[in-house]
Amino acid sequence: MKGALVLALWAALACGPAAADIDESAYQAGDAVKDQAARGRLLRQLEQEAEAERRREREQAEAERRIEAERQAREAARPLSERLAEHHCTACHTAENYATKGHTWLGWRLVVARMVWLNDAAIPFDDRGLIADHLAQAHPASPDDALWEFAYTLSGGLALLGLPWAALLLLGQGRRKYRR
Ligand code: HEC
Repeated sequence: MKGALVLALWAALACGPAAADIDESAYQAGDAVKDQAARGRLLRQLEQEAEAERRREREQAEAERRIEAERQAREAARPLSERLAEHHCTACHTAENYATKGHTWLGWRLVVARMVWLNDAAIPFDDRGLIADHLAQAHPASPDDALWEFAYTLSGGLALLGLPWAALLLLGQGRRKYRR
């Protein structure tokens, strides 16, 4: 009893909308195909529409090809250093990340080195200087920043040179102490 009720409900739900969707007029050809002449006219009209559609598609494909060729020409005309920077420096983050900053050439060289050593950026050695060329030219440091950058790279360099020296000094002192 319960099963039959469920079946009836299912049938009503499934068939109701389907039956309602059928519209007889969709299957009637209307007045257009009454005689042979009208039939010919209709076929020609369809053929013309198809031809127009094919022409539109050809024109669109041609326009797309032209746009792509222009894009490639523009791309090829840009300096190599610029293309290299964009190629390598947008692999992990957007250009926003570095385009909003300014550094001297050395500063950019250090940024690139940091991306390579700390973030594992796969940038060929020969490209690194070129990338710094472009970045330093397109996003230079303000004079103030340049001064700071010079000061801290100089002090960093001195510290780096000083470390082995200090180590040797301590080692030497240790030896002397040990001998006494
Ligand atoms: C392998 C991925 C990777 C590539 C390639 C990469 N970066 Fe980064 N970059 C990072 C990550 C991760 C951070 C955030 C952590 C950090 O600051 O080191 C970052 C942060 C930065 C920052 C913001 C921090 C700062 O020091 O001001 C700059 C600028 C930057 N990247 C520049 C570059 C430039 C220029 C290149 C191209 C030479 C580059 N990145 C390529 C991963 C990458």
